[in-house]
Amino acid sequence: MFIGLDLGTSGLRALLVTETGDVVGQAEAAYPAEHPHPGWSEQDPADWIRALGTVLTELRAAHPEAMAAVKGLATSGHMHGAVTLDAGGAVLRPAILWNDTRSHAEAAELDATPGVRDLSGNIVFPGFTAPKLVWMARNEPELFARVATAMLPKDYLNLWLTGRATSEMSDAAGTSWLDVGARAWSDELLAASGMRADQMPELLEGSDVVGPVLPERAAELGLPEGCLVVAGGADNAVAACGIGALGEGQGFVSLGTSGVLLAGRDGFAPRAESAVHTFCHAIPGAWYQMGVVLAATDSLNWLGRITGESPAALTGALGDDLQGPGPVRFLPYLSGERTPHNDSVLRGAFLNLDIATDRTAMAKAVMEGVSFALRDCLDALKGTGARLDRVIAIGGGARSLYWCKLLATVLDLPVDRPEAGEFGAALGAARLAICGVTGADPSAVMTPPAIAETIDPDPTLVPAFAEAQARFRGSYPQVKELQ
Ligand code: XUL
Repeated sequence: MFIGLDLGTSGLRALLVTETGDVVGQAEAAYPAEHPHPGWSEQDPADWIRALGTVLTELRAAHPEAMAAVKGLATSGHMHGAVTLDAGGAVLRPAILWNDTRSHAEAAELDATPGVRDLSGNIVFPGFTAPKLVWMARNEPELFARVATAMLPKDYLNLWLTGRATSEMSDAAGTSWLDVGARAWSDELLAASGMRADQMPELLEGSDVVGPVLPERAAELGLPEGCLVVAGGADNAVAACGIGALGEGQGFVSLGTSGVLLAGRDGFAPRAESAVHTFCHAIPGAWYQMGVVLAATDSLNWLGRITGESPAALTGALGDDLQGPGPVRFLPYLSGERTPHNDSVLRGAFLNLDIATDRTAMAKAVMEGVSFALRDCLDALKGTGARLDRVIAIGGGARSLYWCKLLATVLDLPVDRPEAGEFGAALGAARLAICGVTGADPSAVMTPPAIAETIDPDPTLVPAFAEAQARFRGSYPQVKELQ
């Protein structure tokens, strides 16, 4: 038996699986994020540990025999967070999370530092880890002076479980301290943000064993003695393990609150200026790239809120037959945009509203706008040499058949819809635990889910959507100018 943990922004999810990846049980526990000032987002690492106790207790109550046979666990974590520890291993301040924007000025400074983008392979985004420590040095100098170790959220959980301070490549890649091509901490990048190599935990690969759970923790959590902790990975990398997107040509499109288009890569081929993320994968010798659209289903949820209609009803009103692009244009930049614009102050727009425009036309424009933004991500990914032969559609928005048909035609790629079941980060984490403990080959364990249906691009509509895409892209500089 193996446990995959998904340390998310709003809660921890645990999945209990067999060695062949069949799901036995699951449990979830929520924890809050604090926002003491505008733009701040913090969590108490003690809440993650409490949540771990809760989910394991629940699993033990429901599946006592299976839990007594657990050989290993691994965690998928929300990325970029800063957990700072003093020399005695005590947490110095609440963890500063990925969606905390207080260090945007420090991020811009680091991003403009010569060599930083080349070594880290990425723009230094405000949510990344390095600028958070620069912010601490400037605003909390006494605390900063006591930082003995800077850790990522899921790595802190691994330290608490095993007593060993480690990180692994996929999460370390989002710090702006890692030479992402060489898979090693970079003294040059560390120095750029006033950090030292001795403050960094030891680096592993995501499928490496960190160590056994400490006997006192195992007793406290009810885990069998000798249960191994495997390093795990960053949430998107681990989700890719869950869905079998490991190498060239394999990827997924996620229609969640934000939208992600991810492609597996066999090598390091960054192109930071296109705002594509280039990170190490959670398995050895692999990387992945992704474009991120900040408001995907969030855009539809927003329309739902202001029209008083549920997102499902808004998409449902379109039926299942794909229609050509509508006259109304929507720019989905409600929270700014990452790929390809890297613009946090940019905001969205509706264009070409007509006296006859109703909320169904607006919903159609929203789904088209988000799909065009994902096509921008695809083109940015292609600009790095990434190849996607087909994509698996996941996330809440993929429940809409119309949206999947629209995406297939806008991306001009076959879109696979998986059968109902587990294929997310918790399963990916369990798969990393299986590989770490048994030594199994990741490509044998991390297979794609069963596909319920493949949606091919509609060749009669591809040209019309390509023209609409060009108009969408042309709107960005104009709307930007008006702001
Ligand atoms: C990736 C990113 C998110 C977070 C939170 O760059 O910011 O995926 O890991 O989920």
